[in-house]
Amino acid sequence: MASSTSLICDTEAWKDLKGHVEDIKKNHLRDLMSDVNRCQSMMMEFDGLLLDYSRQGATVETMDKLLNLAKDAQLTEKISRMFNGEHINSTENRSVLHVALRAPKDAVIKADGKNVVPEVWNVLDKIKEFSEKIRSGSWVGATGKPLKDVIAIGIGGSFLGPLFVHTALQTDPEALECAKGRQLRFLANIDPVDVARNINGFNPETTLVVVVSKTFTTAETMLNARTLREWITAALGASAVAKHMVAVSTNLALVEKFGINPKNAFAFWDWVGGRYSVCSAVGVLPLSLQYGFSVVEKFLRGASSIDQHFQSTPFEKNIPVLLGLLSVWNVSFLGYPARAILPYSQALEKFAPHIQQVSMESNGKGVSIDGLPLPFETGEIDFGEPGTNGQHSFYQLIHQGRIIPCDFIGVVKSQQPVYLKGEIVSNHDELMSNFFAQPDALAYGKTPEQLQKENVSENLIPHKTFSGNRPSLSLLLPELSAYNVGQLLAIYEHRVAVQGFVWGINSFDQWGVELGKILATQVRKQLHSSRTQGTALEGFNYSTTTLLKRYLETSSEPQM
Ligand code: F6P
Repeated sequence: MASSTSLICDTEAWKDLKGHVEDIKKNHLRDLMSDVNRCQSMMMEFDGLLLDYSRQGATVETMDKLLNLAKDAQLTEKISRMFNGEHINSTENRSVLHVALRAPKDAVIKADGKNVVPEVWNVLDKIKEFSEKIRSGSWVGATGKPLKDVIAIGIGGSFLGPLFVHTALQTDPEALECAKGRQLRFLANIDPVDVARNINGFNPETTLVVVVSKTFTTAETMLNARTLREWITAALGASAVAKHMVAVSTNLALVEKFGINPKNAFAFWDWVGGRYSVCSAVGVLPLSLQYGFSVVEKFLRGASSIDQHFQSTPFEKNIPVLLGLLSVWNVSFLGYPARAILPYSQALEKFAPHIQQVSMESNGKGVSIDGLPLPFETGEIDFGEPGTNGQHSFYQLIHQGRIIPCDFIGVVKSQQPVYLKGEIVSNHDELMSNFFAQPDALAYGKTPEQLQKENVSENLIPHKTFSGNRPSLSLLLPELSAYNVGQLLAIYEHRVAVQGFVWGINSFDQWGVELGKILATQVRKQLHSSRTQGTALEGFNYSTTTLLKRYLETSSEPQM
């Protein structure tokens, strides 16, 4: 068992898995897939979802060994500590309670001895009331017009999750109906081009700006907020800010200082990590403004269903636990550093970008939770695109180049079905034919013998051979309603936590992104003084000095 000062790689279970790698390498997925009992044991169903992990490079024995690893990692205890509100984010001395954000009203989840669920629901009720006022037109802008358009300003966790959910709901029939006549956009990048794209076609008179920032200090978000405040006040006068700008933050003092009435601020709490905040006002406010609170509530219920499954289901049937353990197996034992997230659904086009942050900001760590350097890699490189677009892009590398475990995500019922007369299948069936075919192509490959039988010319046989034995898993959702989107989100959030718990790291801090924030400060000061006082460049290396010189000499930025 791993004690607080030892590493998981020193446990018997870890060593046992290391020894097991050679056994697994002797098996080709082609053979593993012919063992029906094995495959049956690798199908898991919960609340309408079907997970099939039979195409993982794993046997029943591997799964037993991974469950032993979970035991040695004290996974049960760590999950309980999370749900019990203990300060498991030890470097920031915080609880990790995003599960409380979607808990039913009568649940009891405590942080520092206090049930936080009533506070959560106070904010949710406030969002419900406010979003109904905006959507019904009873809250109007400074010139008396209803606010039909929303720009949500935020970056990282204050952007990617809400964008993913918004993109997923856009074509859901119920959400689409509820969003009629309304638009929601997201402004994240400090690049002024992003500002231009966001305000293009919008009128300040009919636009509500939601400033979303946990800290209310993030440089990009605050400059974008000042830029849109200027856009509003230039058109409508300073007093219009009260009607056209609201905020989501844990720092209500800074919200007030910025000029937004704290009454129009929606709180969340330090026990919600930025990348885990989509179920707080960070996501719930903009999404409720667009789709109405009742749609968003379904999304929260879907996430909550997975929370309960995660908390109470034995590990051998627990979807996030199984997924997390398999990722640890792929990264730490089989040595695959990446993971492709491949939703066969255009509505999930922003899922991979969101999971990139959830996973890579959480698990890209070099030391254990106790600060010990890790002699093994943690985290994986996440990337992905919706199928079939990805097939025509990077799948070549996945089929014949590097081995990249793939997550295939499919949906039974399309949000927007199309059936064309004369076609042999519906458009959705065409899409899903690929979802079903690709995992087998990766697992089985194509042998030189098969190619010879097909009379492929000898010189092309090496090029057309597919080694196969490439792992994947398939997750089939019944449909892509708000509820299912919530389920999908929570599965991945918990999977990432499981990985971090097993590796023995802190998946809830993000010190690695702090350096970048500080580094820009020196350049910002230099740009200001060079432009306003012609100050010579100082304190930079040859490379940066040359680049800055070129930038200052040739750019046509307006002088301050
Ligand atoms: O990118 C680093 C980070 O701290 C993320 O963790 C966070 O989601 C993002 O910046 C935005 O922070 P805030 O919500 O405080 O503006």
